[in-house]
Amino acid sequence: MTTRRKLIAGNWKMNGLKADGLALAKGIADKLASASPNCDMLVCPPFTLVAPVAEAVAGSKLAVGGQDCHAKTSGAHTGDTSPAMLADLGCKYAIVGHSERRTDHAETDAVVKAKAAAALSAGLIAIVCIGETLAQRDAGQTIEVNRSQLNGSLPEGADAANTVIAYEPVWAIGTGRVATPAQAQEVHAAIRAELVKLVGAEQAGKMRILYGGSMKPDNAKELLALPDVDGGLIGGAALKVADFWAIAESC
Ligand code: PGA
Repeated sequence: MTTRRKLIAGNWKMNGLKADGLALAKGIADKLASASPNCDMLVCPPFTLVAPVAEAVAGSKLAVGGQDCHAKTSGAHTGDTSPAMLADLGCKYAIVGHSERRTDHAETDAVVKAKAAAALSAGLIAIVCIGETLAQRDAGQTIEVNRSQLNGSLPEGADAANTVIAYEPVWAIGTGRVATPAQAQEVHAAIRAELVKLVGAEQAGKMRILYGGSMKPDNAKELLALPDVDGGLIGGAALKVADFWAIAESC
């Protein structure tokens, strides 16, 4: 059996004003004060809410992360946020390479890799996202696409302590169409096998691989019970305390 501790991560995306975000984060932190689900818990608010949320949950068991970061520490990059800035606000994690960033901002594997490397340098844990589109799945390219994105996006020096992988099939994100347990396990196992080549068997065995894409309270248990699924990266269902908590409790 695995000794990997699961990670339940909420990706709030571009949702919530201050009152909503604070209520959500405090709601989860309060629950964590009196109960200990069998997982680590993380919220990644929009950048505007990182500071207030980090302050509100400081000292609790709830970790805070950014949804993206720049590849540089500082400089002439209008509108961007460096990983050092996230760390400075109390973040422990940064998501990099989410498919919405890859699509909306034309982020390539090379860009994602540079961002992940910068996150590691700033002392953050990088959550590196990969995943195939429906067209790629239908063309039978699922494993190949994920392997290739993993190879292109994983930073030098990645290990189980500083890096988490998130497998997020693009066709499952925000669609309500979740991967079947068999589909998820197949890709997670292939990712782990590729990680053995990239970081060695020991680190690959310890590295967490999250599933993301329409994970909800009613399908989480089945997915989280799979041998190579080490947690979830959750969008929609992370916006309600009860749903996010129910997912954590199913670990
Ligand atoms: P979803 O989003 O849970 O709303 O499908 C997951 C993600 O994009 O991280």
